[in-house]
Formats: sequence, C-alpha cells, structure tokens
Amino acid sequence: MADTHSKKILLIIGGGIAAFKSLDLIRRLRERGHTVTPVLTKAATEFVTPLSVSALAGEKVYQHLFDLNDEAEMGHIELSRAADLVVVAPATADLMGKMAAGLANDLASTLLMATDKRVLIAPSMNVRMWDHPATQRNLATLLEDGILTSGPNEGDMACGEFGFGRMAEPMEIVGAIEAAVNDGPLKGKHILVTSGPTHEPIDPVRYIANRSSGAQGAAIAQALLGLGARVTFVSGPADVPAPMGVDLVAVETAAEMLAAVESAKDVDAGIFAAAVADWRVASASDEKIKKDGNGLPVLEFAENPDILAKVCASSTRPKLVVGFAAETQNVIENATAKRKRKGCDWIVANDVSPATGIMGGSENDVTLITADGAEDWPRMGKDQVSQKLAEKIAEALS
Ligand code: CTP
Repeated sequence: MADTHSKKILLIIGGGIAAFKSLDLIRRLRERGHTVTPVLTKAATEFVTPLSVSALAGEKVYQHLFDLNDEAEMGHIELSRAADLVVVAPATADLMGKMAAGLANDLASTLLMATDKRVLIAPSMNVRMWDHPATQRNLATLLEDGILTSGPNEGDMACGEFGFGRMAEPMEIVGAIEAAVNDGPLKGKHILVTSGPTHEPIDPVRYIANRSSGAQGAAIAQALLGLGARVTFVSGPADVPAPMGVDLVAVETAAEMLAAVESAKDVDAGIFAAAVADWRVASASDEKIKKDGNGLPVLEFAENPDILAKVCASSTRPKLVVGFAAETQNVIENATAKRKRKGCDWIVANDVSPATGIMGGSENDVTLITADGAEDWPRMGKDQVSQKLAEKIAEALS
C-alpha cells in the first residue's frame, strides 16, 4: 500500500453529473485510511443526496454558509483549515469561475477563499465548456495560484459528446490526492516506471511474450509512492495489479510502451523495469493464421526500439535513469557493458536463470551497477529491493 498515513480531506462536491463518482471517491479514500469531510454545493444536491454522502463519509455533511448549527459546531474558517487538503470533485465550470474570480457567496466558495491549505480540483464539464476560452483562462489563473488538478480525461460524456471534460476516475484522484499530501523525500518529484512484459502480436489471437510478472516494477512504484513521489506507471500486461495511486498507462506492445514513455512530461527519474520484447513479428497478420495445408508458418522478426536507450539519448532525459539487466550468465560483466551501451546512470542487474527462481518469484538477488562500480545486495524480497532502491533514488534526486 502507498503511504496510508491518515489524512483529512475536505471534499467539496460540485453540481455536475460526475458527482456520483464522488461517492466512490469517498469510499476509496476511507478504504485507504483517510477521513473525508464532505461539503455539498446547492447544485450538488440535485445529483447526490446529503444522506448518501454522509453515510459513505461517516461524517456530517456541510451545506450552508449561514447555518447556525454548523457555525456553532465548526465555523467555516475552521472547517477550511482543519483539513490537510481541500479537494473539489467534480469541479464544475461555475466553481472554477468562482475560484478564479475570488467569489465567496456560498459555503463552498467561501471555504475555498478562506483555506490556508492546498486545493486540488477534478474538473468535470461538457467538452465545449471545457474548451471555452473563459474556462481555459480560469484554469490558467488557478494553475498560477498553485491549484493542483487531476484530469479531466478524454472520453464519452453523459451528454453524448466526446472529448476532454470527463472527470478523472476516483482512483486517479486518490493518486493525485496522495501525491499532494504524502510527505517524504520524493514529494514533488515525478517518476516514470515501466513494468511487466510486452505482448507482440503474431495474429489477432496469438502473441509472443515473456515470463515477467511485473512484480518488481509494481513494488518499485509502490515504494516510490510511499516516499511521496508522483508515479507514472507504464505497464505491459502483468500478472500483478498496478499499485493504487499511480497514474497507470496500460500498454501491450513495445511500440505502445515507447509512445507512452515519450508522452510523459517533466520526469525527474525514469526506472525501466519492464521486460520489453526485443523483437516483434515483422508483419503481424490481421487475420488468424490457419492450418491451410501449405506447411508451417514462418515468422519474420523485426527489432523493437530500445526504450531505455532512446530515453537516455533524448533531449528530455530525466536527471536519473535506471535500467535493469536480466542476465543468465556473466551478470556483472554484461550489466556493466549494458549500462555504458544504453547510457543510463544505474543498472539493477539480476541473474534470471531458472534455477534462481527470480523471474516470476517474490525474491530478488541484485547487483547495483553505477559509474562507481558494482554493489552487491543480499538476496531479499522484491519489496525490500524496491524500498532500498527508492531510498537511493530519493538520495540521488535530493
Ligand atoms: N529495455 C527497453 N527496451 C527494449 C529492451 C530493453 O527499454 N526494447 C530496457 C529494459 O526495461 C531494461 C534494460 O533495457 O531496463 C535491459 O533489458 P535487457 O532485456 O536485460 O537487455 P537487452 O537490451 O534486451 O539486451 P540483451 O538482449 O543483450 O540482454
């Protein structure tokens, strides 16, 4: 689990169709040990009821600015400051406009003006409203004010249109919230992790793959989250689920993995734990290959791009790049040569001969190769390897 130190979230639910997703957001946040104090705008009550919100949050719901009962219990100034983070989800065009203009004419907008805590918004609106110059102007103002955002995503909308404006999924918002509230040496750092195998299609039903489970990559992402990093997790089809709280980009092939890696922006460190297929079938068939009596099919291969080497050579190379070397012989020699050839800072080398039980297993026996030489780590759980590596990464980025 990521850092589950309990945090206090003041959740302002705006009046948009995505308000129903905020119920799930409350549930997810509580599952992870956080407390949620909900605030509903007047419009939000058209979409979700105070009763359902309060039942899920296990807390009183605040709705009115001049409610004497509320003020007697907790004044709006105190309410706005008792939280570790203020979250607005869904953040409607109206709420964003109020925030950008500094209006304070209801409880939600007053709390947003009165708070001394950071604010994260999850915008949600129709694509045209999102694209409208007024919204984009308000967004620019809010970003300049240091407001954090999660989404919006591109996709189908409740109104039948397609485009940007769909509220981020609850787990994406949880990830953004935890990245904002986690205290740790990697707070404010953005780390990219590749993980899992890639699948290279032969035809629509068959593919070439490898035995990587994705366990090491997932454990590294988890450890990095725990130290406060924001993690973009680019994963091939792994056996192990992606840790909660990462920004997950699910891919299948090496080409897709490369595209996902190249589109990640402002990355402080890249950790390339994926077992990328070195080759793909040169011309995968669009139709299922049949036993047609003409003999055995012959597969021609083409070399896949070396994602790690490309990133190392790029003009946007992260400050720290860590590769992995899966070897079955002359581990240190091969990995040392690989570090130089690919241009990365460190290589985590391991022996993946079947007898070691490492590939697909829960333990790892690694040697860290840096410019200073080889450092042998004792055999330990993949979680411990990850923790140790995450701490070293934090040191290198500090
Ligand atoms: N890697 C990559 N893209 C590829 C192949 C590998 O990004 N197309 C990365 C892996 O994620 C890993 C490192 O390169 O961090 C080394 O992978 P490995 O499979 O050990 O090395 P190869 O490049 O395949 O070299 P060789 O086949 O000679 O062992």
